[in-house]
Amino acid sequence: MPVELARAKDQTPAQIVLHVHLGKVATPKARDLDRVRQNIDVFDSELDPDETERIGALEGGDSGPTPRRMLRRLTFCSERIREVTMSERTVLPVMIVTGATSGIGRAAAGMLAGHGWYVVASGLEDELGEAVTAELRAAGSGEFIPSNLTLAGAPERLIATVVERHGRLDGLVNDAGIYRLGDTVETSIEEWDAVVGLNLRAAFLMCRAAIPHMVATGGGVIVNVASEAGISAFPHQVAYNVSKAGMLMLTRSIAVDHAAQKVRAVSVCPGTTMTPMVAEAIRSAPNPQELERRFASVRPANRLGTMEEIATAIVFAASPSVQYMTGNEIVIDGGFTAS
Ligand SMILES: NC(=O)c1ccc[n+]([C@@H]2O[C@H](COP(=O)([O-])OP(=O)(O)OC[C@H]3O[C@@H](n4cnc5c(N)ncnc54)[C@H](O)[C@@H]3O)[C@@H](O)[C@H]2O)c1
Repeated sequence: MPVELARAKDQTPAQIVLHVHLGKVATPKARDLDRVRQNIDVFDSELDPDETERIGALEGGDSGPTPRRMLRRLTFCSERIREVTMSERTVLPVMIVTGATSGIGRAAAGMLAGHGWYVVASGLEDELGEAVTAELRAAGSGEFIPSNLTLAGAPERLIATVVERHGRLDGLVNDAGIYRLGDTVETSIEEWDAVVGLNLRAAFLMCRAAIPHMVATGGGVIVNVASEAGISAFPHQVAYNVSKAGMLMLTRSIAVDHAAQKVRAVSVCPGTTMTPMVAEAIRSAPNPQELERRFASVRPANRLGTMEEIATAIVFAASPSVQYMTGNEIVIDGGFTAS
């Protein structure tokens, strides 16, 4: 779990307390408890007298510290410590998720927050920041930073802001993407540049800026959201197909070049998935039911994917429990590329 990642790095006792509080360490080791015990006076000094009394009542007397009672007390204290002395941001592993204002990225950001990551969600739509932040905090913790990743210097600025605020960067999900129709002859240079510029170039720039920070703190993970269209050439979408195929090679290249520095990279390749983007395409088609049926019927599963299914794969790919997984793709497409 991400917690293991965090614990592998230097942690103060207060940080361990926060993990306990957040339920991330189910059974803290005796060694951890000892370190916390040595600091309990510091924690108590952060409490006002009323709270100290309530803790006393909770503990039901003064018969000496047991691990269970200590935990109850620390759980209570950690709420205060979080507000007073430090932010949980410095504790949890930090993950940036681009494309997090909509669809797959938004679902993945929430799910990652629920799995112990401090998620920095990013997206174009500034006005959605409050709603996205509320979702992250309901699931775990995180914040929103808007960014148009196709603007010069924007990917580098996003990474720098996160590292400046949190002092670390442990994960990156490159999800931001756009889709345009057109074969090789029809596709304009502007359309090509827009699709490749966001889907591939911005993802490359994010990785380029992120990797040195990951290396500096012992490693990290990059999840690139590619597509079944990076594996099979879908008709009339050359720029999109190429951008996603490029992403697969970006993933493999990072895996090969940076494995020794403990940076992993994994591609997640969704098949057509019911996101706001796809729902809108279906709604605006001359025959919506026919288009939805066609999207589904090309695959053995005969249905579209759900955002939760893809988000689950992203969380899995990012998990420190699968350190051995790098350079490959997880394909979730209802059997399309297998058929
Ligand atoms: N939905 C599918 O069927 C499907 C299938 C395969 C792959 N994918 C890939 O999954 C990813 C998410 O798809 P979705 O359907 O959830 O998309 P979506 O349209 O719902 O969301 C796209 C996200 O990208 C962000 N974005 C767009 N332009 C940006 C820019 N210039 N700078 C920064 N952010 C920008 C938006 O703010 C938004 O958060 C994309 O990379 C897409 O190619 C989607």
